[in-house]
Amino acid sequence: MKRRRFHPLQIITYIGVWVPLTILLWDLTHDNLGADIIREATLRTGKTALVLLVLSLACTPVSTILNYKPLLKLRRPLGLYSFMYASIHFSIFIGVDYFFDLALIKEALLEKRFAIVGLTTGLILLVLAITSTQGWKRRLKKRWNQLHKLAYVAGFLATVHFVWLVKQGVVEPWIWMGIVLILLLARVPPVKRFTLAVRSRLVS
Ligand code: HEM
Repeated sequence: MKRRRFHPLQIITYIGVWVPLTILLWDLTHDNLGADIIREATLRTGKTALVLLVLSLACTPVSTILNYKPLLKLRRPLGLYSFMYASIHFSIFIGVDYFFDLALIKEALLEKRFAIVGLTTGLILLVLAITSTQGWKRRLKKRWNQLHKLAYVAGFLATVHFVWLVKQGVVEPWIWMGIVLILLLARVPPVKRFTLAVRSRLVS
């Protein structure tokens, strides 16, 4: 039987993705989450979902610029763990915050624009997670690549969700939106060609 070999970056990733959850559980059991535990847990899981999604989107452009293929192996785990944190984030919202009260949840999800965008992002991540297997890749062929470009839409919508839920004047969500737009721009063919040309000049 062929043994699967893991690249050191994969090992770091598979361990690293559990760190925010471990710290959250530690802080929860040691009373370190402040006065509003639910809000703190919601914010932390939402932020981790966003960070992992952005890291997943960064793998392809950074691998192109550095000509370092192992980064491509990190796209799937980073995307899947982003989905895991988004699911915990959503579960805290509906389970802990709203006690699974369907009428209240429906009202909250449909009335708050940041929640509608968050839900859309979550649904996209769900579709991407389900279809991320080799089986779906074979089944969908060329359409798989097109479908998985939705990761950029998810990244962008996650930043819109963030922009809409913070007070005016807070710059952090705009910085995240800028990063996602730069990563998207890096995938546009002329920009990609330009980057490759600059890289080959610098290397030669
Ligand atoms: C139905 C789906 C979702 C709902 C209902 C939801 C709801 C919330 C709520 C209630 C907050 C805290 C607002 C506050 O008290 O200030 C929040 C924050 C946040 N959410 Fe979501 N969310 C959803 C999906 C997502 C997804 C899919 C992502 C990312 C992939 C995400 C990323 C974030 C981020 C980055 C924050 C702000 C964290 C911070 O301020 O540090 N959310 N969300």
